[in-house]
Amino acid sequence: MAHLNITARTVSSLDQIKTAALVALVPDRKTMPAPIKALDKLLNGTLSQTVRNGDFTSAIGSHCWLPGAAGIQRVLLVGAGSNDSPNVASDKKLAETLAKALLVGSATEAVVWTDGLTQKMKQPERLLEQIALQLALAHYQYNHTLNHRKKPAKALKRVAVSPGSLCALAAARRALQVGAATGEGANLTKELVNLPGNICTPRYLASEARKMARKHPKISASILDERKMAELGMHSLLSVGNGSDQPSQLITLKYQGASPKSRPYCLVGKGITFDTGGISLKPGAKMDEMKFDMGGAGSVFGAIHAVAAMKLPINVVGVIAAAENMPSGRATKPGDVVTSLSGKTIEILNTDAEGRLVLCDALTYVSRFSPVEVVDIATLTGAIIVSLGHEATGIFSNDNDLAESLLAAGDRTYDRGWRFPIWEEYHRQLESPFADLANIGSGGAGSITAACFLSQFAEEYKWAHLDIAGTAFRSAPKGATGRPVPLLVNYLRERAGAAL
Ligand code: BES
Ligand code: MN
Ligand code: ZN
Repeated sequence: MAHLNITARTVSSLDQIKTAALVALVPDRKTMPAPIKALDKLLNGTLSQTVRNGDFTSAIGSHCWLPGAAGIQRVLLVGAGSNDSPNVASDKKLAETLAKALLVGSATEAVVWTDGLTQKMKQPERLLEQIALQLALAHYQYNHTLNHRKKPAKALKRVAVSPGSLCALAAARRALQVGAATGEGANLTKELVNLPGNICTPRYLASEARKMARKHPKISASILDERKMAELGMHSLLSVGNGSDQPSQLITLKYQGASPKSRPYCLVGKGITFDTGGISLKPGAKMDEMKFDMGGAGSVFGAIHAVAAMKLPINVVGVIAAAENMPSGRATKPGDVVTSLSGKTIEILNTDAEGRLVLCDALTYVSRFSPVEVVDIATLTGAIIVSLGHEATGIFSNDNDLAESLLAAGDRTYDRGWRFPIWEEYHRQLESPFADLANIGSGGAGSITAACFLSQFAEEYKWAHLDIAGTAFRSAPKGATGRPVPLLVNYLRERAGAAL
């Protein structure tokens, strides 16, 4: 994937700047701040004229290109609003406007100039982080299976951001690095999630893990094949791949940023590379979207990539339960009973509730790492889209502090979640006459009963489950979003003691 270089740089005065594109943040003020007046003067009054014409309002969300002057080829005016009480939502909107406008342009290099923001900002690093994050995200484009329609590479290669009087250069550098690393991680997630099911198979995910381990000295990968999983007793996970010609894989990715003795944070990802529903076959409409059913696995890759790029001083273990859910003469049937790695037996009443079947064995498996906390990430239920639409990730947890931390991490980076209960009353729906538990409930609250099922395999540690069926991808324009990588990275940064 192409890389966008984002750095912090001090620029002293406008007339010394030489750039293909000066990106000027323009606040909404009755009278122009002195630096904006100076820019207007350099541009022979075209800036104030554009404002008078009503083509640029300085509101957040507005932007306008102007021809440049002297060493500046062109200027992108980006509205910074009244700037009185910026929040992460307004920072994100500003950054997104800036990034999208800059990336459709033809400039190969740009300088983001913040001198116009003369008012003191409470959290300038948050804005800088969003600028780097949104630039990285906007730089992504899918090309893997395009030939004749292959998009030309994005022109933009380098962006220098000048913090001006917002904050010190070192603080700006760190904020930009965090945003860029998060964006790169999310782009890796997007690429894996967008790949079709005939390319992105369980073995493809395993080879991606090995590739990542080769690239980063602090990352290692190990893979369990079906034979090893059977020896361990992971028959719930294995039952999902029974109908598929693609062998299931249990992938472990370890990032070691702290002493080997320090207990790790575990991320567990649902990696169903295609979900037909199995014998409980899904309807045909939009079934192609079930290639996105490894979004949880993709976000584990993305988060670990970002954490390694940021060199966080913690240990992280990512475990991906990868399988393909297909119907066949060998496929699992409704009513089949399997024994999970935990020893609990499961009556599979619906083979389309397969995510929980692969995750439960992965959740039992991660106990061996003595994790501080375990977060699983899964495109688990269509019901979460009924509850939350595509705005928020569903959060479920057996630990209030962990749930609060994940909610706060999502709020800080505007990749938000919303918590649901997993009360005892809901658990009763999972009782079965033929096994220790059934894999589906029968009385509504489908996302909650799915989480209740998982919680029964996560009793030994602090655990949270993120249901990302509504947030990991969009139907229009169709594609992966890279969520919830920003949430996960922010949570891990906070646990590493580094978040804002
Ligand atoms: N992968 C699906 C969930 C899903 C549905 C994700 C729509 C994204 C969009 C999951 O494996 C599934 O099929 N869940 C079933 C559970 C049901 C059988 C209890 C569902 O949501 O219908
Ligand atoms: Mn399913
Ligand atoms: Zn699924």
